[in-house]
Amino acid sequence: MKILKRILIGLVAVIALVVVIVKVSFNSKLNQTFAKPELQIHEDVIKADVELGKRLYSVRSGCIDCHGADLSGALIMEDPAMGNIHGANIAPYKLKDWSDEDIARAIRYGVHKDGRSLRFMPSFDFEGLSKGDLAAMIAYLRSVPAVEKESHQNTFGPIAHVLSVTGQMPIMFPAAVIDQSKGFVEKPAEGPTFEFGKYLASSCVGCHRHDYTGGKIQGGDPAWPPAADIRLGNFAAYNQESFKQMVMTGKSPVTGNMLRPPMPVHLLKQLNETETQALWAFLSTLK
Ligand code: HEC
Ligand code: HEC
Repeated sequence: MKILKRILIGLVAVIALVVVIVKVSFNSKLNQTFAKPELQIHEDVIKADVELGKRLYSVRSGCIDCHGADLSGALIMEDPAMGNIHGANIAPYKLKDWSDEDIARAIRYGVHKDGRSLRFMPSFDFEGLSKGDLAAMIAYLRSVPAVEKESHQNTFGPIAHVLSVTGQMPIMFPAAVIDQSKGFVEKPAEGPTFEFGKYLASSCVGCHRHDYTGGKIQGGDPAWPPAADIRLGNFAAYNQESFKQMVMTGKSPVTGNMLRPPMPVHLLKQLNETETQALWAFLSTLK
């Protein structure tokens, strides 16, 4: 009996120690600061196309899913293990104190104005945006009506703590995984071309991976299906017409089933003819 009691006490002590280590390590990552290099974007923001910015925000980059249609922040997840997480209010209220440079660094490098990493903002998914597109998005953020409310106070659950201190949840501290020395990509002309399709497909790599082979989505909800292999040159069921149908209906021509979340079917449905043709021109060449 005595031995059992000792083992139990020992076990409780070990668990308590692990909890403390995880907590301390999480807090040190929370407070880590990052460089804030200038992106020299202000001039581009002044002359940027606000309508293009709106399209990037609402369709092509999917910001709307986390920051909402009025930009005041939307619920991302509410789960005891992962946390209670909303996007920040990025309508002109809090951000009026942020320079264009501050906003650009948040989107591109995941670095907050205060120098720390943003938490749960997938900035690494936006590395493929050109400087002009990033500027257009900032111009759009500046153009909408202010929403006078504080950003939600996000809290993170035990599983999110463990996954992020063990490096399995890059979205928690994006600034820690982004290479600030990488320059902007050049944007090709918008048209139904391979080049523009390749540019657009940079918004798919967060889930489908840089080589488009798909697989388990890192740091995602364990209930999500793996992202599909989208080297569409390998699938007889895909041709220009069936690809267009998939975009419009969200149904896979390979399996005949509706594609499940987190595949952003609601965003793809809003792609126009040029964007759809461009994506096909690129994805159909991949094998
Ligand atoms: C998966 C959800 C998600 C997506 C997609 C997303 N964001 Fe965020 N974003 C967040 C969260 C969460 C925060 C708050 C970060 C924090 O509290 O540290 C944030 C913070 C920000 C901030 C900093 C503001 C602040 O007060 O912290 C800006 C600017 C921003 N996002 C812009 C964008 C833009 C533009 C896009 C699209 C290109 C985008 N976000 C896509 C979740 C997301
Ligand atoms: C947030 C993660 C995510 C993003 C971003 C995403 N996808 Fe997906 N995608 C998925 C998942 C998960 C599946 C598998 C769904 C299923 O099995 O029901 C999928 C399935 C697909 C399929 C179906 C393949 C088949 O079997 O028929 C295609 C095509 C596809 N995605 C294309 C894209 C394109 C193009 C983009 C970018 C414009 C994109 N996806 C962005 C997660 C994502």
